[in-house]
Amino acid sequence: MPLKSSPGLTGRRRARRGIAAAAALAFAAATALGAGPAAADVTAAARVDNPYAGASVYVNPDWSAKARADGGSAIANQPTFIWMDRIAAINGVNGTRGLRSHLDNALSQAAGRTMVVQFVIYNLPGRDCAALASNGELGPDDLPRYKTEYIDPIAAIMRESKYANLRIVTIIEIDSLPNLVTNVGGRPTATAACDRMLQNGNYVNGVGYALAKLGAIGNVYNYIDAAHHGWIGWDDNFGASATLFAQAARASGSTVDNVTGFIANTANYGVLKEDHFTINDTVNGTSVRQSKWVDWNRYVDELSFAQAFRTQLISAGFPSNIGMLIDTSRNGWGGSQRPTAKGPTTSVDAYVDGGRYDRRIHLGNWCNQSGAGIGERPKASPASGIDAYVWAKPPGESDGASREIPNDEGKGFDRMCDPTYTGNPRNGNNLSGALANAPLSGHWFSAQFRQLIANAYPRL
Ligand code: GLC
Repeated sequence: MPLKSSPGLTGRRRARRGIAAAAALAFAAATALGAGPAAADVTAAARVDNPYAGASVYVNPDWSAKARADGGSAIANQPTFIWMDRIAAINGVNGTRGLRSHLDNALSQAAGRTMVVQFVIYNLPGRDCAALASNGELGPDDLPRYKTEYIDPIAAIMRESKYANLRIVTIIEIDSLPNLVTNVGGRPTATAACDRMLQNGNYVNGVGYALAKLGAIGNVYNYIDAAHHGWIGWDDNFGASATLFAQAARASGSTVDNVTGFIANTANYGVLKEDHFTINDTVNGTSVRQSKWVDWNRYVDELSFAQAFRTQLISAGFPSNIGMLIDTSRNGWGGSQRPTAKGPTTSVDAYVDGGRYDRRIHLGNWCNQSGAGIGERPKASPASGIDAYVWAKPPGESDGASREIPNDEGKGFDRMCDPTYTGNPRNGNNLSGALANAPLSGHWFSAQFRQLIANAYPRL
C-alpha cells in the first residue's frame, strides 16, 4: 500500500542536510512515494543528502581477514563494498557471509553510531556484454529471473525494520549502461552481445527495476555506475551516457528521485588527479588532447571527469543535489615509477607520457594492471560534488583469469587479462598490461595484492 507524500515536500525523496530529529520522523513518511513499502517498513531516519557525512562505514570481516593474512594489516580496517555478484551471494557463497549476515554484523559494528553499509548490485541479464571475465549467471533474456530471484529477495531483506537505521549504499550495475553507448551499432568497438542488450532493453529495464525497488526503501541510497573518464570522457559518449542514464532511471516505474548519485572508476585504474598536466595544456602550440595517451578525450583524470559529469547529469534531468563517488581502491600509481615532475616539452607525447601518474600502456586496459597501487583511503566529502572516495573493488580480488579456468560462476576467459594479448579496438590494439597467473575474477590474487600495497599512494 503506497503512502501518500506529505504536501510540504516537492516530491524529492531525500531530505536536506542537518534536518532535526523530530522533523526527520515526519519526513520518513514522505520517503515512500510511488510503489512504496508497506507502513511497517517506514524508517526511523529520513534520507540525508550525503549518506557518508558524519557516518562510520562497515568493514567487511571476510575481506579484512584475507587482507590481514596477506601482509595488508595497514589497510585491513578499511571499508570495502560487498558484491552481490550472483543469486547465491544473497545467502553467502564459499563460506563468506550473505546479505542478512552482513547487515546484522553491521548493526553490532555500529554499536549505536550511524553506519553506512556498501553493496554492489551486479547480476543483470547478459552481464558485461563487452568482456568475458565477469559474464554472469543470467542469460540475455533472463529479466524475469533478475527481478524475482535477485532484486526482490535483496529488497525484502534490506527493508526489514531492524535495519532501518543503517544507511545502505548500493552501486547499481557496473559496466552495463555505458556499454550500450560505446559498444553498439556498427562502432569498431561494438559487440554482438551489447547490440542484443540494447535491442532487448533488459539493461535499461533491469536498472530501472533495481532503482525502483531499492529506492522505495527509505534508508537505501542508490548510486548508478558512471564508468570512468577513459570510457565516456569523449564528447561522443559523454552527453549520450547522461541521457541514457536518465532514461534508465525512469524505466520500470522508477523516477530520477530514486538516485542519490553516481560512481566513477569502479574497479578501474584511472588516476584521481594528474598533477603534472591538465587538459588545457599545450606543448609548442599543440594541445595535450592530441597526444596518443589523451587521444581527444576531454578529461585527464577521474576527479575532473566526475565533477563535470555530475553537471551533465543534472542537465539531463537528475536532481541538483546528486553526489558522486569515486573508486580509489587501485588508482594510486605510487612506487618508483611515479613521476615527480612535468614531462619534457620536446613533444606533446613526451610531455604527457613523462608526467602522467597513470602508467598503463593504454587507457582502455582494465584487467589486473601491472604497476598499480592502492589509492586514496575512503573518505567522506573530499571535494566539491563528491560524496565520498570509496573502495568499491576490494583490493586483492582479481579482475579476471589470465588463462581459461573451468568454473561454475559464469566467468569466461577474457584475453585482456592475458599479458601476452595484443589487444582489440577497445584498447587501441595494445598489450593488455595485465599481471600473469591471475585467478578467476573475484578470487584472491595475492601477487596483485602485494603489488598494490607496495605501490600505494598516498603511501601506507
Ligand atoms: C568481479 C567478479 C565478481 C567479484 C567482483 C569484485 O566483477 O566477477 O565475482 O565479486 O569482481 O571483486
